[in-house]
Amino acid sequence: MVEGKRILLGVCGGIAAYKAVEVVSRLRKRGAEVRVIMTRAATKLIQPLTFQTLSANPVHIEMLEEPKVWNVEHIALAQWPDLLLVAPATANMIGKVRAGIADDLLSTTIMATRAPVVFVPAMNVNMYENPVVQDNLACLRRLGYGFIEPDIGWQACGVEGRGRFPDPERIVAEVETRLTTPRDLEGVRLLVTAGGTREALDPVRFLSNRSTGKMGYAIAAAAARRGAEVILVTGPTNLVPPGGCRVVPVTTTLEMYQAVMEQFEAVDAVVMAAAPADYRPATYSETKIKKGEGPLTLTLERNPDILMELGRRRDKQVLIGFAAETGNVATRAREKLLAKGADLIVGNDVSGTETGFASEDNEVLLVDADGVEEVPRQSKAELADRILHRLRAMLGKDVTG
Ligand code: PMT
Repeated sequence: MVEGKRILLGVCGGIAAYKAVEVVSRLRKRGAEVRVIMTRAATKLIQPLTFQTLSANPVHIEMLEEPKVWNVEHIALAQWPDLLLVAPATANMIGKVRAGIADDLLSTTIMATRAPVVFVPAMNVNMYENPVVQDNLACLRRLGYGFIEPDIGWQACGVEGRGRFPDPERIVAEVETRLTTPRDLEGVRLLVTAGGTREALDPVRFLSNRSTGKMGYAIAAAAARRGAEVILVTGPTNLVPPGGCRVVPVTTTLEMYQAVMEQFEAVDAVVMAAAPADYRPATYSETKIKKGEGPLTLTLERNPDILMELGRRRDKQVLIGFAAETGNVATRAREKLLAKGADLIVGNDVSGTETGFASEDNEVLLVDADGVEEVPRQSKAELADRILHRLRAMLGKDVTG
């Protein structure tokens, strides 16, 4: 599937540099054309000749050396690939890219390229978990850089944890997916909401629900892969935000309402996969509510219905909502389609544990004005693509397959 694709591999000076050799070999076996840039530190760990032999191309190391290609070297290299893969990506390289530093051939090429850049971070677990590194990774994700997450396991420095270079086969598979996913949502501006919201009672307690954000994040990730410009408005989750999305974190339904309304005019479509709390406490106690002997009565007031308001305000935008139900999914989804003025409602049964909230899979009914499509159980990632296929049709884009 990568036959004829041009992959530029940036190798940084981490001990996993030797494993990048296997990545080159596998990409070449699948017919990709590979060129390699090594940082100077990487050349201390592995001989450039190894990469040269396996890639069948000269290895690029220095910025200001006699050019091996026809043009200013870093610009020519930056314009060449279909994808720039940085593997292993060290904390140093990630920090430099985040800070806008371009002081060697690889960092300069990363800055100059328009090809998608995918980092494979690999480093000692303490370095990987360092808040500075995590902040740099989060920033690069927000800016649209792609990532292949490191594995958890035994590391060369004798410790166990996250930061291990992934299996080369997984890297090659992910490169293939990224290069072969059709960019059929290019030019589409999509707003996705995800996760549950939290409504505080006092400084230590809140009301919320079981949404983990998995469904919404899967939709945002798939849409970004397919070329859409994605804004992800998300309640608190434990998930790593997908690369290529602009992330807007919120906590309460009112904040989500505000964030969605601010973006609404500028987008072509909205997918409301979030589970915003319908009610909030009528009063917030500045101090922790003390427990008494008897029952505690809370008064709740209604939060705005974000999707319903979008249905009222909509102009050209396509609106997709979800319906989280514990029975009569088709009927209730249809009622929500009409009440909220949406184009499509994804009805899911949330009474079980295998699908709906928190699960890896989902099984849904796609309900629109024309009828009901039953979608059998599948991963949330697969379902995300199915929903986006429908979205694409509703946006009037040519759809085949
Ligand atoms: O996050 P996961 O753990 O992966 O779980 C996924 C999910 C079960 C949360 C998701 O698939 C889902 O069903 N999301 C909708 C949850 C929900 O709030 O359903 P609802 O039937 O109460 O609301 C109907 C629609 O109105 C939804 O699109 C919802 O986002 C929207 N809504 C709801 C309340 C509100 N105040 N404003 C809204 O816009």
